[in-house]
Amino acid sequence: MNFADSEIVTSILSREGYEQVKDINLGDYILINTCAIRDNAEQRIRKRLRELRALQRNRPWVKIGILGCMAERLKDQLMAEEDNVSFIVGPDAYRQLPSMLSRIQQGDRLAETLLSDSETYDDIVPVRYDSNGITAYISIMRGCQNYCAYCVVPYTRGRERSRDAQSIVREATDLFDNGYREVTLLGQNVNSYRWHDETSNTEVGFPQLMEMVAKVNPLLRVRFATSHPKDLSDDLLQVMAAYPNICRCIHLPVQSGSAHMLKLMNRRYTPEWYLDRIDAIRRYLPDCSITTDVIAGFCGETEEDHQATLDIFRRVRYDYAYMFKFSMRPNTYAEKHLQDDVPDDVKTRRLEEIIALQGQIALENNQREVGKTFEVLVEGVSHRSDQQLFGRNSQNKVIVFDRHDIVPGQYVNVRVTRCTAATLIGELI
Ligand code: 5AD
Ligand code: SF4
Repeated sequence: MNFADSEIVTSILSREGYEQVKDINLGDYILINTCAIRDNAEQRIRKRLRELRALQRNRPWVKIGILGCMAERLKDQLMAEEDNVSFIVGPDAYRQLPSMLSRIQQGDRLAETLLSDSETYDDIVPVRYDSNGITAYISIMRGCQNYCAYCVVPYTRGRERSRDAQSIVREATDLFDNGYREVTLLGQNVNSYRWHDETSNTEVGFPQLMEMVAKVNPLLRVRFATSHPKDLSDDLLQVMAAYPNICRCIHLPVQSGSAHMLKLMNRRYTPEWYLDRIDAIRRYLPDCSITTDVIAGFCGETEEDHQATLDIFRRVRYDYAYMFKFSMRPNTYAEKHLQDDVPDDVKTRRLEEIIALQGQIALENNQREVGKTFEVLVEGVSHRSDQQLFGRNSQNKVIVFDRHDIVPGQYVNVRVTRCTAATLIGELI
């Protein structure tokens, strides 16, 4: 989501004549886009600001700005504690950047962090920098109001709002016309996407939106992130099954396998509901990969709760998982009403157990792919050897193979010959 926002910021500034430079030592402004979701994300930015002081000593005219969620959350504190920060811009205020940049030249320090109920930047065509020219993100909604007890996002990114469906389809069409072959539709909870289309006088929900984007071209792959398990509907699964270019991959953050923890987290589903959704995915899309997010050591988590998480990992057998240690975030329900009472060494041990189990499962899942042939969208040259290319299959698994005369952007068929827990290795058919 931050990456997509940086592309919007680049677009807003490019229209005013600013130019992006590849080398940080050549820039007159340094914009740092930030995330506040976990404490370590904030710590990294503080460290980066300290490192940049050296650069500013040699180039004293350079101005540093903080963008994004951390800006929104910490504006007063950052202005007071980091005297090398000249401007702070929250996630809904990027349109004000050009006027801010001219105002800070007079030596002012400025902060714009008001959240909006309507800003979706839908008229701004993101500048795809650092792009492989083949895969791109499209932001379809902003904000979140699910208020999971541990999560800072509703406070830093504001109320949920969906972007004009026609502008999303236009963006996907333009990307395809420019050679892109895969788009990922982004939102905190895409399943609650809702737009009233004036021209056809119809309500567009997420399944309808997916269908509209899938119809742009059968050669355009469509992915999405993230789904909230409470809202994952059979309608969406049916649309996915009907369009081969909608990728067979669903990211369904479980967060915990314990009914008690899920209730305390305000996730609004039970482990039974979650497993029912997994069954539905397997029914409609037997070859679908499933990935997840999980938090170890949330407030009050007992050994039994932790075992329930390991249990759900064994039952679902995820293809990939983003695994985190709980960190208390300001303003959240947890901070106001719960105790961060799981000792850090216990959190670490539980996280390590989840990571070890998941590593084993991912390897076994990949071993089952050996011998199968997949359609792969080629993305680029392998990091290990320039004689090899890499791409992904519909399930979002990375596959590496010998390059021959194939070029990125092509679809090829690759038979898997071996694997690691993270990568499939194969040969061109
Ligand atoms: N501590 C640890 N992990 C968190 N996440 C969100 N908030 C926290 C927190 N306070 C994780 C969740 C979410 C992912 C994006 O980040 O698993 O799905
Ligand atoms: Fe945070 Fe929950 Fe919203 Fe995801 S759905 S962004 S975890 S509040």
